[in-house]
Amino acid sequence: MEDKILSVIVLAAGRGKRMCSKVPKVLHHLLGKSMLSYVIEAAWRIRPREIIGVVSPEVLEVVSEWEVNGPISWVVQSPPQGTADAVRCGLSRLSPKAKYVMILPGDVPLVRPETLAAMVAEMESSGEGLVVLGTKLNNPYGYGRIVTDEKGDVLKIVEERDANESERTIHLINTGIMVFERARLMEELKGVGTDNAQGEFYLTDLAALFREGGIPVKSVLCEDPLEVSGINDRRQLSEVQKDLLGRLIRRWQEKGVTFVNPETIYLEQGAILGRDTAIDPGVVMRGKVRVGEGCRIGVGSVIENTLIEDGVEIRPYSVIEESVIRSGAVVGPFAHLRPGSDIGNNAKVGNFVEVKKSRLAPGVKASHLTYLGDATIGEDTNIGAGTITCNYDGKRKHPTTIGKNVFVGSNTAFVAPVTIGDNATIAAGSVITKPIPEGTLGVARARQQNIYRRHKRKKDA
Ligand code: UD1
Ligand code: MG
Repeated sequence: MEDKILSVIVLAAGRGKRMCSKVPKVLHHLLGKSMLSYVIEAAWRIRPREIIGVVSPEVLEVVSEWEVNGPISWVVQSPPQGTADAVRCGLSRLSPKAKYVMILPGDVPLVRPETLAAMVAEMESSGEGLVVLGTKLNNPYGYGRIVTDEKGDVLKIVEERDANESERTIHLINTGIMVFERARLMEELKGVGTDNAQGEFYLTDLAALFREGGIPVKSVLCEDPLEVSGINDRRQLSEVQKDLLGRLIRRWQEKGVTFVNPETIYLEQGAILGRDTAIDPGVVMRGKVRVGEGCRIGVGSVIENTLIEDGVEIRPYSVIEESVIRSGAVVGPFAHLRPGSDIGNNAKVGNFVEVKKSRLAPGVKASHLTYLGDATIGEDTNIGAGTITCNYDGKRKHPTTIGKNVFVGSNTAFVAPVTIGDNATIAAGSVITKPIPEGTLGVARARQQNIYRRHKRKKDA
């Protein structure tokens, strides 16, 4: 395509009533990313001179913070009065150098750049008028139908609610994606009224207006209806997500990842999974989760933005956020790693252990019922069951530093800030408030006393 004569207007200001949501439709997520960002990414890939996003004030609040990799301008359409009105708003910002304008609805997140490029190519070959992207649906209910003449040229597009019985039997539907010659679009837009079932300005009316004016209206067929399905309600949202997820899982299967029961897994585009890693049923991975080779991720684990190196075992029902787990470590079952946890090589974090903003050196073991917060723990140290770092004094957080090869007896409380030297031993049940020097035994508990009590004899009955 000749560069930079095409501008794209993305329509994203509609109310999305069928979503029944406070959140604007185009900001609903598919695999962790909004529908709108999928559409904008596809649009960038055909290298337009600019993108204009027509949005509602609510959407503007969110998108104005997006980092966009090109000249994108946001225009507010309020109130939304239909797709033709939205295009009118978009045109007010259009660069005068744009010869062609692509209209891209914000609710078709799966559309591929290749399909968009094919439409532009069709536009360039006819040189004028309008190109509409259609697809054939077994059940076209709800969509605008493309009415064609015997040559296959478009006569008009009629919306579901305004269609007569014979028009409703047409399977060729309007995907909502169109490419216009800009000058014609501006001219003909003036003729669009609101004489329809919804009382809105329909962009689709332009097909008939162009045709009546003797301007060519072509349609390009998209072979895969799913690619261009417009998401209007939550059922469609979940169907499209299911398809995307299926494709993502297949991609990782091809790269050597085992999914024990793929239908039960959720992961997002940001996941990177190593060869010979096995993912058990019910695992959820959100954001950027990187898993090395030969790992096992146990049933029901939830992992977010985390780096897991090779040969790690995450046992069932562990919850892991923004952490690093190094080679050979074992975590869980029922472990909770909160942000900032760094679990060293071959370390072990066992059941009902919570770790937050703490660094466990290689070989550290914290196997049962423990809370480690703001702690640094040296190599091969063993943390006994029930150990707690008391890191919060009601106002501030304080660090606990434990050396190498320390033996922490069960039910120890570290009242932070506190430092323990290498090779120290701590007696079970201690409340440690003072530093323990290297190689010493710290005991901080009441000494046991056994008090003799004379046995009262029961009186004989
Ligand atoms: C539209 C088409 C229909 C097509 C279908 C494909 C019209 C009149 N109908 O119907 O022919 O089959 O898409 O999915 O164009 N929007 C605005 N401002 C508005 C109204 C809508 O920005 O005033 C935006 C929406 O946010 C959405 C897009 O335009 O992203 C399409 O609007 P939507 O209400 O989903 O139209 P459909 O009923 O799906
Ligand atoms: Mg729609």
